[in-house]
Amino acid sequence: MNKKIILSGIQPSGILTLGNYLGALKNWVKIQTEYDCKFFIADLHAITVHQDPSVLRENTKKTIMQYIACGIDPEINTIFAQSHVHEHAELGWILNCHTYMGELSRMTQFKDKSHKQVNVGVGLFDYPVLMAADILLYNSDYVPVGEDQRQHLEITRDIAQRFNSTYGKEVFKIPEAFIPETGARIMSLQDPTKKMSKSDSNPMGYISLLDDRDTIIKKFKKAVTDSENVVRYSDEQPGIKNLINIYSAITGKSYTDIEKEFQGVGYGKFKVAVGEVVADELDIIQQKYNKLNSPEYNSYITEILNKGAEEAHKIAETKLNEVYDAVGFLNKL
Ligand code: TRP
Repeated sequence: MNKKIILSGIQPSGILTLGNYLGALKNWVKIQTEYDCKFFIADLHAITVHQDPSVLRENTKKTIMQYIACGIDPEINTIFAQSHVHEHAELGWILNCHTYMGELSRMTQFKDKSHKQVNVGVGLFDYPVLMAADILLYNSDYVPVGEDQRQHLEITRDIAQRFNSTYGKEVFKIPEAFIPETGARIMSLQDPTKKMSKSDSNPMGYISLLDDRDTIIKKFKKAVTDSENVVRYSDEQPGIKNLINIYSAITGKSYTDIEKEFQGVGYGKFKVAVGEVVADELDIIQQKYNKLNSPEYNSYITEILNKGAEEAHKIAETKLNEVYDAVGFLNKL
């Protein structure tokens, strides 16, 4: 039984948004039985911008609890913290020596992020190389990534191909982007041309996975739409399109069925309906999250992480040995 390998990670930024859930986690839950999945918390990536140590620790735990609360089953997936598997940083170094400054300078995420800082850290520049190491360590077949991470997957493929051809060996499997059948890019409720993000200065723009029902309904009621007053899936109505995407991702209904369901109904009712289905789904997640967040589950989380790190390390160690051998390091006997 050789399942294809899927790997993905999320940075530990605390409580996730509805965008993370519908864009990533909910899809991961759907594919977890069909593929051999490795889901990790990218804590090494997180420190490419300054983190308060105690907040980082808390956020890492919160992210794992959210993975599980959202339905990622620790029994069938490998869930781990990136920093618990030292091979990530080590392979990152080797790959640094096979990556060009020019390629990294062209990364749009680096350009965006570095503009916002006075002193730009080398880690921020090097971010995609560490990401390549994450992916290549596990012989990943597919990597589910959003639009904003596409370029990083491309450079991963370039680095892997270059490495293989330099040493004349297929050391790395060349990964591909995983495009889920469903799952949309969820946009800000206040500016539907921008991705929903927790870094939005206006909390009305995003739904946090831990928002209560009233807050959720309120945010949907205030969602920015247009004056057409027709529930139609069209690029000309980005606000309504976003709400249809959300409603469809939660209920599994098609766009045309949703258009029919809300034909002749004003935006007011439609917005509340979207808010209701979101609140219902998040309620279940919140109940699980609150349970996991209680002290008696502390050791459960630690166990999952230990088991995950051990499983991941076994694979990563084998791959790193192959890499060390390929570049000509002396065997350690
Ligand atoms: N850069 C990704 C993000 O911010 C997180 C990440 C790190 C990742 N390493 C990865 C995603 C490897 C997929 C595969 O969303």
